[in-house]
Amino acid sequence: MSTASCDSAITYIDGDKGILRYRGYPIEQLADHSTYLETCYLLLNGELPNRAELTEFRGIIQEHTMLHEALRGFYKGFRHDAHPMAIMVGVVGALSAFYPDASDVHNPRVQEIAAHRLIAKMPTIAAWSYKYANGQPFIYPRNDLSYTENFLHMMFAVPTKDSRPDPLHVKALDLILILHADHEQNASTSTVRLTGSSEANPFAATSAGIASLWGPAHGGANEAVIRMLEEITESGNLKKYVDKAKDKNDRFRLMGFGHRIYKNFDPRAKIIRKMCHDLLQSLGDESTPLFDTALELEKIALEDEYFVERKLYPNVDYYSGIILRRLGIPLDMFTVIFALARTVGWISHWKEMMSDPTARIGRPRQLYTGSKERDYIPIEKR
Ligand code: ACO
Repeated sequence: MSTASCDSAITYIDGDKGILRYRGYPIEQLADHSTYLETCYLLLNGELPNRAELTEFRGIIQEHTMLHEALRGFYKGFRHDAHPMAIMVGVVGALSAFYPDASDVHNPRVQEIAAHRLIAKMPTIAAWSYKYANGQPFIYPRNDLSYTENFLHMMFAVPTKDSRPDPLHVKALDLILILHADHEQNASTSTVRLTGSSEANPFAATSAGIASLWGPAHGGANEAVIRMLEEITESGNLKKYVDKAKDKNDRFRLMGFGHRIYKNFDPRAKIIRKMCHDLLQSLGDESTPLFDTALELEKIALEDEYFVERKLYPNVDYYSGIILRRLGIPLDMFTVIFALARTVGWISHWKEMMSDPTARIGRPRQLYTGSKERDYIPIEKR
């Protein structure tokens, strides 16, 4: 809470001014002009690629999109109703068993390949977790599709029908991936760093990051927002939920509101709110009850003294769920998509830490609040 946990040259945030930059580039500019894959290159390597570098990077990522066939068998070990995040934690951790060379964590070439493997395989792992839950056959990656198009293809294609994702869907999802790609030392990234600081391999560290992201106070918020907006829309009683959020005796919070760092506004929320509006319009949605509820709830909250005083504004996940829902992505895949997007951030931080010769094992201290020294009491005397 009161000091920096590390030095980092990847992402800059000024929470009071609502600034977010990846490697110095404002998020607004990347959202307007970049693609997710180009942003991955930027985060990993520190510079935007030229055309040749981007083509080469795209080719490398495409080479690694398939999973080892033995990894397919892992999915069968899960119950049919397993949360896809549970599958993600397991399968990404299991990659360690397939690439034991990744344990040579200080070797720059090993770091690079591990980063490429993770970025490339995450869409396949994620899409297959959905296919497994649905009882549909796994769809293999296709190298003639863009990164994001390929993910949507593996999610929604079936062997009996040749289909290609809607370009509007691809564009919207690509933007969501860019906006979630990194966010400096958040809970999951700090978890990846702490795990990696013991020189654990990058797949184990990433799996720890996924576990940390899962909770509703972090990446799980996008799923929780939709559940909340649906409940509110159904009840038609916005005020009741605002009052519940303000009630100190009620653990309910307005999901998608508030942020540890942004105390002005979350710049990603502004971008995503506009994208949500544009997408719904382009897709010709006449009635958008969830979006209408979201706008109304935002308006009420932003005028309410409780939220104003505490500087609580919509965060990135307030609107992202509405977009994902419109793309036909089921609720329990929302956090998986966040994990997919954040993988490049996690692995860039891991790589930065492993390349730092002064890095040491992470070892937070504590304030001890327990008993003073006391003598052991035999069980018959307790
Ligand atoms: N609804 C109602 N009240 C809230 C909310 C909310 N969403 N968020 C914070 N508050 C209140 C707290 O009760 C507290 O009030 P108090 O001072 O009277 O005790 C005050 O605002 C400060 O809140 P903290 O919990 O101290 O803020 P913190 O920085 O620890 O938490 C967090 C940030 C976890 C994001 C929080 O705002 C929250 O739970 N939001 C909802 C979940 C969410 O949207 N998470 C996504 C985060 S962004 C991301 O991971 C992509």
